[in-house]
Amino acid sequence: MTDNINYPHIVEYLNNTLPEAKGIIKELEEYAQENLVPIIQKEVRSFLGMLLKYKAPKNILELGTAIGYSSIFFSDYILPGGKIITLEREDDYFAIANENIKKAGKQDVITVIKGDAFETVKKIDGDFDMIFMDANKSMYKYYLDTLLPKLNPGGIVVCDNILYKGMVSCDDLAPRKQNTIILNLREFLDYISHHPSLETSIIPIGDGVSVSVKLQEEK
Ligand SMILES: C[S@@+](CC[C@H](N)C(=O)[O-])C[C@H]1O[C@@H](n2cnc3c(N)ncnc32)[C@H](O)[C@@H]1O
Repeated sequence: MTDNINYPHIVEYLNNTLPEAKGIIKELEEYAQENLVPIIQKEVRSFLGMLLKYKAPKNILELGTAIGYSSIFFSDYILPGGKIITLEREDDYFAIANENIKKAGKQDVITVIKGDAFETVKKIDGDFDMIFMDANKSMYKYYLDTLLPKLNPGGIVVCDNILYKGMVSCDDLAPRKQNTIILNLREFLDYISHHPSLETSIIPIGDGVSVSVKLQEEK
């Protein structure tokens, strides 16, 4: 079972067609592959790069830093003076991410906050233009409810692994029908698809990505 929900020949085609990463982003991709660190897939990176070029956010909040790959990638797209806050609970990843952020020269732009996002999101202040959720998938609804007041109208919420190896859409792929992650992701996708303050699209690339725009006024 892979973390990519598409046919292997489609993934291979996309990977061969999309341009290779450069510099530290390429180095971190190689590190992640060698050390089995789960980072956003190449086609997801490409999609988010396009979205960020279009949206040009000032402040981004990320849940789930790992080695800092996605936050360093995002940092090339934010507006001058913008900041990225990223949350990570594992000591090892926290240390590695900070090293990588320093190596990328982004220590004035990206701040990693160590701790369980469950607690951190309650305390975090800010007005964000983008929230990227890539931590524990079961809690996405809680994170959204807690963070939506801190997202500016017109801001976007992007969630990764939203189709979770395809299991969210198909019980036959799931080892157990009552898997909490799967049930919670189904509930979350229904919630964001019908939320009065959000316009949402669910995109079947990578392991599934949702993009929701916060509306100026409720539907
Ligand atoms: C998929 S990885 C993040 C990958 C990263 N966004 C990237 O693409 O480069 C998920 C990360 O979330 C962290 N994580 C999971 N649950 C968390 C929680 N409750 N609070 C904070 N971090 C959490 C994990 O330790 C892991 O590093």
